[in-house]
Amino acid sequence: MRVVVFISGRGSNLQALLEDQNHYKVTHVISNRSQAAGLTTAERFSVPTTVIDWRDKIQAEAQAITLLNNVKPDLIILAGFMRVLSAEFVAQFPRKIINIHPSLLPLYPGLNTHQRALEDRQTIHGATVHFVDQHLDRGHSISQCHINIKADDSAETLADRLLSKEHALLTTTVKKIAQGEIYWRNKQLYYNNQIISQPILWSNT
Ligand code: GAR
Repeated sequence: MRVVVFISGRGSNLQALLEDQNHYKVTHVISNRSQAAGLTTAERFSVPTTVIDWRDKIQAEAQAITLLNNVKPDLIILAGFMRVLSAEFVAQFPRKIINIHPSLLPLYPGLNTHQRALEDRQTIHGATVHFVDQHLDRGHSISQCHINIKADDSAETLADRLLSKEHALLTTTVKKIAQGEIYWRNKQLYYNNQIISQPILWSNT
């Protein structure tokens, strides 16, 4: 399975994907920021990279669509990509784009998820991998990982502790898609012949 990864910054989720490529291959990395550290990681793994200036969103998306139509990925992964894709863009790649989001969706779509979970005095936090549709962070959820919030957690400690779980969540989910264990049939999302009505919780995450 050929995968294109979109990033905006550090790229630790990208690195986790690059270190785990037995069932899929990252064939291209796209960043909206030329300084994104993840670009260096991609280069270290000899993966071609393209920086697209997203200040003109219409032009940026047109450039990304042309590139994707050349590269022809089976799956597009948003891994810390901090731009919202338009409905028109998403419609070009139906059921082919997934995103990792640092909250237990449908809780806390958007930004500052860790801080918002703390302010609401949640005791459990987590991350979600979901398909991307035209609504921000509201596409079909696939899988989640949970962590307990500690009394002395700050947004930073929470984000740090969640991040390594995110890596396992994302790589496991992508592997299951690559192996055909997670798939769409008749507009329903399945995991091993069962309709996914609740996000899957991997036991090893
Ligand atoms: C991750 O925590 C990811 O869940 C989050 O950005 C971070 C990127 O880290 N994504 C979003 O907030 C998307 N709305 P990374 O660059 O080290 O993978």
